[in-house]
Amino acid sequence: MSMCEYDAFAPVEDPSPRETVRRRGQISEANQPTVSVRVVRSAEDLMRVVAIRAVVFMAEQKCPYEEEFDGNDYAGSTHLLAEMSGEPVATIRLRFFAGFGHVGRLAVMPQMRGFGTARTIVEEALRLCAEKGYGSLYAQAQKRLVPFWRQFGFEPMDRRAAPLVWSDHEYVEMCCQLAPRVAALDMKASDPLVLLRPEGAWAAPGILELSAARGATNPVG
Ligand SMILES: CC(C)(COP(=O)(O)OP(=O)(O)OC[C@H]1O[C@@H](n2cnc3c(N)ncnc32)[C@H](O)[C@@H]1OP(=O)(O)O)[C@@H](O)C(=O)NCCC(=O)NCCS
Repeated sequence: MSMCEYDAFAPVEDPSPRETVRRRGQISEANQPTVSVRVVRSAEDLMRVVAIRAVVFMAEQKCPYEEEFDGNDYAGSTHLLAEMSGEPVATIRLRFFAGFGHVGRLAVMPQMRGFGTARTIVEEALRLCAEKGYGSLYAQAQKRLVPFWRQFGFEPMDRRAAPLVWSDHEYVEMCCQLAPRVAALDMKASDPLVLLRPEGAWAAPGILELSAARGATNPVG
């Protein structure tokens, strides 16, 4: 299968790392369509995220609805969505605490695994966290995926004697230190209108900068 022949309804597979390397070999520069990643900013995009997580966690991993959609999707979360040829293919959820970011709910549609989709969306998530000024990230990795998260700089925290278990999986707490970014957003150093730009789109002028051109009339009711 080439990535161009992506079929959302093809049989489910979860390739091993070896299979991943084999699949990548099938992709030439010429037939490689791009996977684009964006921050979710609309109800429509959140529906795409929910669809992916329903397929991956509810259908594949048999996670009950109430546990998968745990009350944190609207409260303080940033979701990233990856698309290929207009189809939603992967998602990841970021939550932000005072001193660290929490990376979770990473899911790639079964037919898109082994092509570097997770790498693309995880690297984008780490970039976004670094831009926001986060130096520490936290994750709870399904035990079999500890080697996967290690590739991105996460290491087991080893602070628990008892296994961490939820939704029928054993998890390993992992954390990662991000290299400090000179240009990270900062309350004192960043332009105030830059701080108002849409999440993750801090390099381009936002709608409120355009509004600033109207000047102040200080309207009140
Ligand atoms: C785990 C998952 C996100 C990987 O997605 P993917 O798109 O196949 O991963 P990629 O193709 O981007 O692989 C990136 C790298 O991770 C490695 N990798 C992929 N799956 C792996 C696995 N199960 N174990 C170890 N390494 C793995 C690949 O070999 C690749 O390494 P390379 O770049 O050196 O070749 C995907 O299988 C998935 O969605 N699984 C179900 C949901 C899930 O369990 N989420 C995680 C909860 S903690």
